[in-house]
Amino acid sequence: MEFVRLDGERLTLVFALEEGGAADLAYCGARLPDGDDLAILATASARGRHESQPDVPPVPGLLPEGKAGWSGMPAVRLRERTDHASTECATDFRLVAWEHYPTELILTFHDALLGVDIEQCWWIGTSGMVCTEAFLTSGGGRKLVLDRLSALALPIPRRFTHLTSFTGRWAGEMREHSRPVAPEGLARTSVAGKPGFAGGNWLILEDPASGEVLGAHLAWSGDHDTRIDVDLVGSADGRAVLQMGAAWDGGEVDLEHGVGYRTPTAMFALAPDRSALAQVFHDHARAILPNRKAWGLRKVHLNSWEALGFNLSEDALIALAEDAASLGIERFVLDDGWFGGRRNDQTSLGDWFVSPDIFPNGLGPLIDHVKSLGMDFGLWVEPEMVSPVSDLYRTHPDWSLQQDGRDKSTMRGQLALDMARAEVCDYLFERLDALLRAYDIAYLKWDHNRDLFPSAPRQTEGFYALLDRLRAAHPHVEIESCSSGGGRIDYGVLSRVHRVWPSDNNDAIERLRIIPAWSQFLPLEVLGSHVGPSPNPITGRRLAMDFRAKVAVFGHMGVEADPARMSEKERETLAAHIALYKAWRGVLHAGALHHLAHPDPNVTLIMVTHEGRALALAAQTAFSPVFDAAPLRLAGLEPQARYRVTLPDPWPPRARHYLANPDAWREGLTLSGAVLMGHGLALPLTHPETAWLIALERLPQ
Ligand code: GLA
Repeated sequence: MEFVRLDGERLTLVFALEEGGAADLAYCGARLPDGDDLAILATASARGRHESQPDVPPVPGLLPEGKAGWSGMPAVRLRERTDHASTECATDFRLVAWEHYPTELILTFHDALLGVDIEQCWWIGTSGMVCTEAFLTSGGGRKLVLDRLSALALPIPRRFTHLTSFTGRWAGEMREHSRPVAPEGLARTSVAGKPGFAGGNWLILEDPASGEVLGAHLAWSGDHDTRIDVDLVGSADGRAVLQMGAAWDGGEVDLEHGVGYRTPTAMFALAPDRSALAQVFHDHARAILPNRKAWGLRKVHLNSWEALGFNLSEDALIALAEDAASLGIERFVLDDGWFGGRRNDQTSLGDWFVSPDIFPNGLGPLIDHVKSLGMDFGLWVEPEMVSPVSDLYRTHPDWSLQQDGRDKSTMRGQLALDMARAEVCDYLFERLDALLRAYDIAYLKWDHNRDLFPSAPRQTEGFYALLDRLRAAHPHVEIESCSSGGGRIDYGVLSRVHRVWPSDNNDAIERLRIIPAWSQFLPLEVLGSHVGPSPNPITGRRLAMDFRAKVAVFGHMGVEADPARMSEKERETLAAHIALYKAWRGVLHAGALHHLAHPDPNVTLIMVTHEGRALALAAQTAFSPVFDAAPLRLAGLEPQARYRVTLPDPWPPRARHYLANPDAWREGLTLSGAVLMGHGLALPLTHPETAWLIALERLPQ
C-alpha cells in the first residue's frame, strides 16, 4: 500500500493506493501538517471486519463496483452486445498505475478480462475546489456499451451525517431539503436533457457537531445522476459513498469503435461553514468564467419581456428604451418576439430573421436609438428549438429530435433540434453569426424552454460546441444561460457564459429565497436580479417598489417592467436604487458573500465584504411576532477595525418612522467590527415587505 497526498491551501486529501487492488481515500479534511505519517493516519482510521461481511470486506473506494459483496450502485456499468441481446458485464477494475503531481493525481484502473481502462483524475484548484473526471477507453475486440461512469465516487467522511439537497419547479427553484444522510441516502436524476429546476446537481453535506460543510456539484448541462449509497444491505457499516455523473439512456455510449468516454467534471469543497463554502465556490466560478478578469462593471439591464411581452412595435420599444435610459439603465434587452412570425409562443422558433412586420428597416434604427441613449443592446434567442409552425420546420422537418414513426410531442408548442447533426449546428451558427455581424449586439439571452424528449445523447456536446464556436467568432458578446429561468445552471455552462437567469419568478419575496439559495454556489455577479412589475405576473403579489428594488440590488441588477406604468414616485425610488447598485456593484461582484442567521426565520440577512467596504441587505417578509426584531449581527469584519455604518437612502417608507435616532443614522455611526459582529444593529423590521440596506466603510486606523 502506498499513501499519496494532495494539498490545497486549506485542505488535504490522502489516497491509499494498492497496486493491483483498490484506490481509497484515507483522509479528506483540513490541511495536515507537512510530514505527517500517512501510513499511521491510515492505521488509525482503519476498521476491522465485522461478522456480517464477506471474508474480505469490500472496498468501494474511489471506483465502487458490483463485486466482492458491495451492493451499492457501481460507478461503472458495461454491457456486452451479442447479435440479438446484451448482457451486463461483471467488472473487476484494478489499480495499475498512478501519476502524482503537486496538486494532481491520475489513477489508472484496468479490467484485464474486458480490456477496458479507466483513468481517474483528481486535482485541486487554486480556489481549494477538488475536481475529478474519469475517462474510459476500451481496447476493442468486444462489443461494449457503457451504461454508467461516475465522474466522482467519494467515500464520504463519516463526520458528515447530514445532507441538504434541493428540489424545485419552474418559478420555484432551489428549495432546500435537509435531513440525516442515513438510512435512505439519496438518488436524484434529471431526465429533461438539462439539470432542471430541481437542483439535483448541487449538494451540501454537514457535520452538525462542528458546522463544517462539504458542497458538491456536477459541471454538466445535460442530465445528471447524483447518488449516495449508505448502510448497504450486507455491510450495514455506516459507510456512505457519494457519486455524481452524467446520465443517459442505455445503449447511447457505444465503445465498439474504440472511442472512449470522458465524464464531465465533478467538484467538491470543504469549508468551516456555509458562507465559507459559498466563498470557495465563488472563487472557483471567478476562475472559470470566461475571461472573468477582463469583465467591466455589470450593466443594469432593462428586459422587454415583463414590460411588453409579445406586444412589440418599434415605437413601443423606442418609448421603453427612453424610459429605461432616464432611470439609469445601461443595457436594453429585446426579449422574445422580434423574429419571423413570432407573435405568440406557438410559432417561428428557428426562423432567426428580423421580423419585417415589426422592424421594416431591420433592428438598425432601434439599436441606433438605444445607443444614442447611452445604452448597449441585447437580444433574446432560443437556438436549440424549432416551432412546427416555422419556415425552418417546413424546410427541414427531419431536423427535430424524433423517434421514427412516432408522434412528435411538443412542449410550449415547440420541438428540439437535433444538435448532434452538423447541418443543424451550421445553420444555427450561420444565423447567429449573421445577426452578430449585421448588428451591434453586446449580449445574447440564450433560452431553452423545452424539456428534451426523446432523449438525445449528443445534445449537450452540440450545445457546447455551438456556444464555443460563436464565442470564438464574437469574443466580446456576453451570453446568459436562461432555460425558463433556473433550468440550465451549472459550472459546465458557466465556463462559457457570463450570466444565468436564476428564475422566471421576479417576485421579490420569492427571490429572497431563490437568490440566497443559488448564491451558495454562484457569485452575485452572474445571478440576474430584476425588478419586476406589481402585481407580479406569476405570483399575483403586489409589492412596494422600495422592497422590490432593494432585493434586486443583490445580484446582476435589471428591470423587467414598463416604467410607463409606474408612478412618478416609483420611478424615483427605482432610479435611486439603480444608482445605489452602481455605487456598490464593485463590492457586490468581487467580494466575499456571507449568509447570516437571524432568530426570525422570515428575516433574510446577507452581506458582501470587499477591501474594507461592505453592503448588507436585511429583509423581512412576514409580520413579525415581536415589535422589535433581534439586532442584525454582521460577519466578515475585522473585530479591531472601526467602521462607519450608514443606511443608504431611500429608507423603507413605513419602517423609517420606527427608527430610533434617525439623525444619528443620517450622520452615520462609527462602530468596531467586534460590536457589529457580536452585538449587532437594531433596525426596525416589524412589517412585511421591509428591507434595509446597510453600508459599511472601514476607517483608517
Ligand atoms: C422564457 C424565459 C423568459 C422569457 C420567455 C420568452 O420563459 O425564461 O425570461 O425570455 O422565455 O418567451
